[in-house]
Amino acid sequence: MQGASAAGDERELELSPEAMRAMVRQAMERVVPFVESLPRQPAADVSGALELARSLAEPLPQAPTPLPELLDLLFRDLLPKSFNAAGPGYLAYIPGGGIFHAAVADLIADAVNRYVGVFIAAPALVQLEANVVRWFAGIVGYPETARGILTTGGSLANFTAVVTARRNRLADDFLRGTIYASDQVHHSVVKAAILAGFPEGNIREVASDARFRIRLDLLRARLAEDRAKGLEPFLLVGSAGTTNTGAVDDLAALAALAAEEENLWFHVDAAYGGFLMLTERGRERMRGIERADSVTLDPHKALFLPYGNGSLLVRDGAALRRAHTISAHYMPEMQEDPDLIDFCEYSPELSRDFRGLRIWLPLKMHGIEPFRRNLDEKLDLTEWAAGELAKLPGIEIVAAPQLTVVAFRIVKAGAAGPELNALNRRLLARINARQRVFLTGTMLGERFVIRICVLSFRTHRDRVEAALEDIRAALGDV
Ligand SMILES: Cc1ncc(COP(=O)(O)O)c(C=O)c1O
Repeated sequence: MQGASAAGDERELELSPEAMRAMVRQAMERVVPFVESLPRQPAADVSGALELARSLAEPLPQAPTPLPELLDLLFRDLLPKSFNAAGPGYLAYIPGGGIFHAAVADLIADAVNRYVGVFIAAPALVQLEANVVRWFAGIVGYPETARGILTTGGSLANFTAVVTARRNRLADDFLRGTIYASDQVHHSVVKAAILAGFPEGNIREVASDARFRIRLDLLRARLAEDRAKGLEPFLLVGSAGTTNTGAVDDLAALAALAAEEENLWFHVDAAYGGFLMLTERGRERMRGIERADSVTLDPHKALFLPYGNGSLLVRDGAALRRAHTISAHYMPEMQEDPDLIDFCEYSPELSRDFRGLRIWLPLKMHGIEPFRRNLDEKLDLTEWAAGELAKLPGIEIVAAPQLTVVAFRIVKAGAAGPELNALNRRLLARINARQRVFLTGTMLGERFVIRICVLSFRTHRDRVEAALEDIRAALGDV
């Protein structure tokens, strides 16, 4: 495609049919080989990337640049200098996915640019997104009264949950309200509470047990102590898959405590673990989640969507609506029929992308089975990896898999504390230096551990075997 002429005219941004086709064709000529080569790309390569990043700072462009030149810059120079987060060797943090279908859905959604913030603007498209939310509610085991929203990720979902709990359970003067979670809870929950207006001191991180699950005895004691001080406990956050170790709190016990003993809003952060409920093992481990008042689920984790896809479900949909409804004269009339959803009445957002299409399209094209099979495979692979690690001399499994994370470290006679941690950091660096897999570490109390998280739909047995080979080889080096 020709770059626009410098002289141009005011119609220059309205591409001709031919120009649209050419643009997509040229992009696809780069995208397809790139995606196809993901397994052969280094698992992570950011050498020189800092200098590269600095070299890119530039003023607002005044002159046009031809598309091929820009695609070259992206695919040849920039993309290779990053973590290969869509590749099979990405066993770090919580892997995202990147199913291609979502990219096609985005192309359609962005090109047609219909408005889904209010029902009346595109009733049928809003219904597709409402279907996606309903499917998710079904996975969690929620009743018909549940409602929810698609967000850009788990952080925004957790934030919306905290605001919803606050607006439903506390008065406008809410600073005596206190929030409870384990010391393993994702930091987005703490951030959400702060952004929702709570001082950091109102967030109680309760110690966890040997399997990294919140200790109920300590939780009860802390609640009693706070009530005695005249504080207002109102929100309990459980984890269904912590980022550190994949630990799942005893959700049934937490739900009972929240509803029957303490009258708390019970939110479950299932951003990572939630979609594992598609499997029998996941459902068993997350029993009790259906009693939560709200649940965060991230399609860009265990539903293999690309980054930018989270969701929040609220069991009593009216509570979500109460927390977010504000009217204005310029807005169209909102729907009264509870089956017809104005998403802006349930969400902090008004104008936004038609993000439901990204999820609707692959689920309709494939049905849920391939997703379920993939997740079962990831559970198996993690158990297999843990079993193999346990056979290695000097390796201690610090957190056995509850979902698809296993955490381990090397132990050495006479080495402890910072010295042992430094040894494990070296081991991690050696494993990653081979560039077939990319692992990350974390601190569990005073212990630095290395994690393997198997969650990408592109990760299969061959890559987990490669991880084990590289761990064995690296053990010989440290
Ligand atoms: C358990 C958990 N909760 C919340 C989040 C935050 O989600 P996001 O990064 O999509 O904002 C993450 C991110 O990894 C997570 O693992």
